[in-house]
Amino acid sequence: MTDSIPDPFDVLILGGGSGGYAAALRASQLGLSVGLVEEDKLGGTCLHIGCIPTKALLHAAEVADTAREGSAIGVHTSLGAIDMAAVNAYKQGVVDRLFKGLQGLASSRGVTMIPGHGALVGPDAVEVNGIRYHGRNIVLASGSYPKSLPGLEIGGRVMTSDQALALDHVPSSVIVLGGGVIGVEFASVWKSFGSKVHIIEALSHLVPNEDESLSKGLERAFRKRGIDFTTGARFQGVEQTDAGVRVSLEDGTILEADLLFVAVGRGPRTEGLGYEAQGIRMERGFVLTDERLHTGIASIFAVGDIVPGLQLAHRGFQQGIFVAEEIAGLSPAPIVEAHIPRVTYCDPEIGSVGLTEAEAAEKHGADAVVTVDYNLGGNGKSQILGTAGFIKIVRVVDGPIVGIHMLGARIGEQIGEAQLIVSWEAHPEDVASLIHAHPTQNEALGEAHLALAGKPLHAHS
Ligand code: NAI
Repeated sequence: MTDSIPDPFDVLILGGGSGGYAAALRASQLGLSVGLVEEDKLGGTCLHIGCIPTKALLHAAEVADTAREGSAIGVHTSLGAIDMAAVNAYKQGVVDRLFKGLQGLASSRGVTMIPGHGALVGPDAVEVNGIRYHGRNIVLASGSYPKSLPGLEIGGRVMTSDQALALDHVPSSVIVLGGGVIGVEFASVWKSFGSKVHIIEALSHLVPNEDESLSKGLERAFRKRGIDFTTGARFQGVEQTDAGVRVSLEDGTILEADLLFVAVGRGPRTEGLGYEAQGIRMERGFVLTDERLHTGIASIFAVGDIVPGLQLAHRGFQQGIFVAEEIAGLSPAPIVEAHIPRVTYCDPEIGSVGLTEAEAAEKHGADAVVTVDYNLGGNGKSQILGTAGFIKIVRVVDGPIVGIHMLGARIGEQIGEAQLIVSWEAHPEDVASLIHAHPTQNEALGEAHLALAGKPLHAHS
């Protein structure tokens, strides 16, 4: 080991994705020496094969729809063609710029990058390429991978988001297996690019983890867009030919398409990394921690998708910051999982935070919960954009707002205020007295709270 590499590091991190690099940046900011082991690229799934490239595709999809629909508002545009090579170049340009910025940030903060495949080999040691690195504190941040189903092999015309992001053409038709977040986002992109899309979802609704009103609203919108879906359907098998895929469902239905896109969840990437051997408690491959993200072994912490809970980049960032501050002795307040905002970037978008109506009823009793739906039909900016949708607020009677659920084009941008409202346990009256700028979609949040406070303005009562 050279003199320039601390032995031990104050913090040694295994994995440079959202959780790992956030821990690295915050720890170095706090004056700690940091080693960051990464076998692929700093930035991980989110930056390279997740959030960023998919949202670039979704933006390209929005532009395609705008071009296609321009004449409806008197602007005579038409959609020529989708040039996937150019779309991919645009997408990669965004990723590359962010990647360069992130590398610069890590280097300027003095983070020691350790390239290679690491494994935990002791309570304070990670081995990379035959070299042992030590840390007074270890942070496990090895991330996740796209899962498949037993017997469903990925390859050829059967792909996950990893391969789909590299597609060099627009498929003429796609069967999307799984109507969760990844499934509906890719379905939305492909439909906008001109593919015929059919989603198969095992549960009774698309985006089944959301408030049922959002699932139903999205299903209505997708039906209108011509995106087919079958819910309550169980996948049985797939056959690949040179021409396409033939998918069979358990009820005997046969569907054919150019390709099968598998989006049935992401699994924790923890196998073969030495975690169990160090006595770390695991469940279904996930690393178990206490609310301070400590594994219970030595000074080993875990962050991100390997910790049970929402697999979201911003949760990983926050957990990384938390662990760095915990190690530095700042005693940060634990993260409230229930307050983590969620945005799904399909068209129309979904934004939600806090409890669904069903969860609130279960927690507080059905009679103790009241809701209001504000329809975007009454919101000027949403009408200008031509989007349908609504904002639903869930509150405890005479108590705080515990959930906000939104559907509509671009509505994800409203998640910031929604999150503040739920996290600060605001009452509708508190929000109703705040002025929301006109004409914005944000105004719809204000209107929903006015309605819940008993004084709706632009709403028929
Ligand atoms: P998911 O858990 O959101 O959805 C998977 C869906 O597949 C579920 O609805 C499930 O019922 C369905 N399914 C499972 N087995 C099935 C079967 N045999 N037949 C039919 N349907 C089946 O997982 P997804 O969409 O793969 O996303 C993985 C993770 O990545 C999620 O935790 C998600 O939150 C995160 N992510 C977040 C994004 C965002 O915040 N915008 C974007 C993309 C991913």
